[in-house]
Amino acid sequence: MIKLTNRLKYIYDLIDEKYIVADIGSDHGYLPLALLMDKKIKEVILTDVNKMPLNSLKENIKKYKFDKDIKIQTRLGNGLEVFEDNEVDIFIIAGMGGILIKDIINKSIDISKSSKKIILQPMNNVDVLRNYLVNNNFNIGSEKIVKEKDKLYQIILIDNTKDVDNNLIQANILSDVLGYKMIIDDDYLLFLDKQKGKYKKILNSINDNKGDKVLNKIEFINKLLDEINRREYDSKRYL
Ligand SMILES: C[S@@+](CC[C@H](N)C(=O)[O-])C[C@H]1O[C@@H](n2cnc3c(N)ncnc32)[C@H](O)[C@@H]1O
Repeated sequence: MIKLTNRLKYIYDLIDEKYIVADIGSDHGYLPLALLMDKKIKEVILTDVNKMPLNSLKENIKKYKFDKDIKIQTRLGNGLEVFEDNEVDIFIIAGMGGILIKDIINKSIDISKSSKKIILQPMNNVDVLRNYLVNNNFNIGSEKIVKEKDKLYQIILIDNTKDVDNNLIQANILSDVLGYKMIIDDDYLLFLDKQKGKYKKILNSINDNKGDKVLNKIEFINKLLDEINRREYDSKRYL
């Protein structure tokens, strides 16, 4: 049995049974292997752009001796370029930078949209990724902050089975940073608090240079801090 960390366990729980799942950039493959071992899914495609992780995954698959009715494929290649339209129900793209994830989706936008769901877990530049998703009519179903040790991860679930939520039709830079459909819980409050600390620190470090660029930055941070306060207040009332 594979014990998943909080980040991967949250993604594991998002997977609906009996779907064909593809894990992009599988590397160690803990998540798809756990899904297979627990018989949660019957068909998985593991991919990576590098040969090394894929070879060790193949060894692991042999070692575990899965049932004959379980289908496992491995594919070497870049992002979603190794798929065709409608081949996969759920794509998982986790543990990569937000800009890389954006580029992977953008290169294969039709394949992305032909799936039922896409689960994204960017390690950074989450605002850039969200801005891209909203501007390209991807329907954000939910977003969750997951705490693991002292780190907070952001997980975005794209639900292609439903129409784009009207509230998401226009991207706005505050929600690009703080999320559009965040699940409100203690981890989210912690995230808001950390964001507040981060942006206050940036504000304090800005010196007297009052050029247009700096003034715009100050204005943006002040708006962001107001929005964080508003969200904190609303979330605390909700919890
Ligand atoms: C840090 S690991 C993440 C492993 C796992 N997905 C997770 O979340 O724990 C990133 C993996 O993505 C792979 N990778 C990077 N760029 C990729 C691309 N364009 N297409 C497919 N895989 C890629 C890397 O080779 C590496 O194995």
